[in-house]
Amino acid sequence: MQSRVALVTGGTGGIGTSIVQRLAKLGHKVATNYRDEAKGRAWQAQMKDQGYDVAIAHGDVASPEHAEALVREVERQIGPVDILVNNAGITRDTTFHRMTPQQWTDVIDTNLNSCFNVTRPVIEGMRERKWGRIVQISSINGQKGQYGQANYAAAKAGMHGFTISLAQENAKFGITVNTVSPGYIATDMVMAVPEEVRNKIIAQIPTGRLGSPEEIAYAVGFFIPDEAGWITGANLSANGGQYMGW
Ligand code: CAA
Ligand code: NAP
Repeated sequence: MQSRVALVTGGTGGIGTSIVQRLAKLGHKVATNYRDEAKGRAWQAQMKDQGYDVAIAHGDVASPEHAEALVREVERQIGPVDILVNNAGITRDTTFHRMTPQQWTDVIDTNLNSCFNVTRPVIEGMRERKWGRIVQISSINGQKGQYGQANYAAAKAGMHGFTISLAQENAKFGITVNTVSPGYIATDMVMAVPEEVRNKIIAQIPTGRLGSPEEIAYAVGFFIPDEAGWITGANLSANGGQYMGW
C-alpha cells in the first residue's frame, strides 16, 4: 500500500487522536492542527512517546485564512495532502428558544464552515494528482436531530450534504468523499453532558455502552485504501445501533 499524506483536523481531541493513530498504523504520514501551541506540543510529545510521529501546525478551522495557512504549512512539513478528515468540532448545547446568535454561529463555523475552509485549499491538488480521500465526521444527531442541539444537528446534517455534492463533482478525479456518523463516544464532548442526562442516553443504545474513539477511527480507515475507490458519497453510521435510519 502506498504511503500518503493525511491531515486530520482536531487531531488532538478524543476521536481525532484515534484517527491520527489509525492512519499512521495504516502507513500514512499524518498531520493535525493546534490552536494553543503549548497544548499542541505536549500532545505531539505524548504521541512521540507512543511511537507516532505526527506533524502539527497552527490553525483555527473556523477561519478561512487560518485553514489555508494550516494546509500550506502541512504541505511544507510533510507534502501535499492526499487524505483529509474534517473532524474538528464543538457543541454549544441549549434549547433553541434560549440559543444566542453566538452559540449558533460558533457551532456552524467550527463544524460546517470548517469543511469549506479546509477542503477548499486541498481539493485542487487532489484533482491534479487524480487521487484523494475526504471524510467528514458528522454525528448521529445530524441524522436524527437532538433536543438541545438545533445548531449542532444543522451543522452535522449539512456536512453530509457537502459530502454528497463533493462526491459527485470529484468522482472522475479519483477522489472519494464520505461521511462517518458516530453515535455517543466516550470523549470530553460527551462527558460534558450532565451525568443524569448521559445515563438516559446510554440506556437508549442497544449495545448498552458508549462507543470508543478507536471504533470511529476504524470506520474512517475503511474509506482510505485503493480498494475503497468505488465507495463515494456514503454515510457510515457507527452508533451501537442507536439509530438505524438514513
Ligand atoms: N426529549 C424530551 N424532553 C427533554 C429531552 C429530550 N431528549 N431532554 C430534556 N428534555 C426536557 C426535560 O425533561 C425537562 O422537562 P421539564 O421542564 O418538563 O422537566 C426540560 O427538557 C429541561 O431539561 P433539562 O433540565 O436538562 O434542561 P436544561 O436547560 O438544563 O438542559 C439540555 C437542556 C442542554 C438540552 C440538556 O438536557 C442536555 O445537555 N441534553 C443533552 C443534549 C445532547 O445529547 N448533547 C449531545 C452532546 S455530545 C455530542 O454532541 C456528540 C454527538 O455527536 C453524539
Ligand atoms: P473533542 O475531544 O472535544 O475534540 C475536539 C477537537 O477539535 C480538539 O482537538 C479541538 O482542539 C478541535 N477543535 C475545536 N474547535 C476547533 C477550531 N475552531 N479549530 C481547530 N480545531 C478545533 O471532541 P471529539 O469527541 O473527539 O469530537 C471530534 C468530532 O467528532 C467532532 O466533530 C464531533 O462533533 C464529532 N462527534 C463526536 C461524538 C462523540 O460522542 N464524542 C459523536 C459524534 C460526532 P482544541 O484543543 O484546540 O479545542
